[in-house]
Amino acid sequence: MREAPIGVFDSGVGGLSVLAEIQRLLPNESLLYVADCGHVPYGEKTPEFIRQRCSVMAGFFREQGAKALVLACNTATVAGVADLRRDFPDWPIVGMEPAVKPAAAATRSGVVGVLATTGTLQSAKFAALLDRFATDVRVITQPCPGLVELIESGDLHSAELRQLLQGYVEPLLASSCDTIILGCTHYPFLKPMLKSMIPADISLIDTGAAVARQLQRLLAERDLLAAGPNRSVRFWTSADPAYFKNILPLLGQSAGEVQNFDL
Ligand code: DGL
Repeated sequence: MREAPIGVFDSGVGGLSVLAEIQRLLPNESLLYVADCGHVPYGEKTPEFIRQRCSVMAGFFREQGAKALVLACNTATVAGVADLRRDFPDWPIVGMEPAVKPAAAATRSGVVGVLATTGTLQSAKFAALLDRFATDVRVITQPCPGLVELIESGDLHSAELRQLLQGYVEPLLASSCDTIILGCTHYPFLKPMLKSMIPADISLIDTGAAVARQLQRLLAERDLLAAGPNRSVRFWTSADPAYFKNILPLLGQSAGEVQNFDL
């Protein structure tokens, strides 16, 4: 069981930002990554639809013998993690949420910005997160429709992307926030562009590394950490595998085997 793989999924390529953190922290683990590119963006889908996709993914990873599941997607987590934990109570499941708690602790100006999908920002889970951790700070939320689609197309640099992103960042800058939460796993890929738009004293916070640490904790508690150096990663996509294979190196992964996921 220790040598069993870990299942990781996202609506698309965004979860690769989390996969990279898991690879860094847990280099012995073998990983399975499913990109549900045939249904991206999740951010504009209904919670019911996303819950159904979460259940399909979980079924697939169970069949593959995965010892743990990582929802490398904030939008899937707010919609689906509670059902998955109910359905698989003994399976280590790690979800993601926007880094409201660390941002509230870190801000000096008392104003925090959140860039995330519409689905995440409208969820009850996000509202509960604010109630719990952000009562003493002002939180400016900014949904970012269109960003995910551009990142999915391999665009990290175009003028179109810059203009769209600028429009989303401006209200945050106008609010004198000193901390911006990247509340969608696609957005860490925009860090270089974002840094060129914001003053150097504004910090960008995401939760990829924290998710990897939480996964490590859950596996260690159950004595499930892989012992041997069996590092490998296999990819599936519900859109075009050849296209996905080409995009992998742009997003920091060496090209690997990509299969079709048609569930
Ligand atoms: N990467 C996802 C997230 O963390 C969702 C992107 C999308 O499909 O809208 O929220």
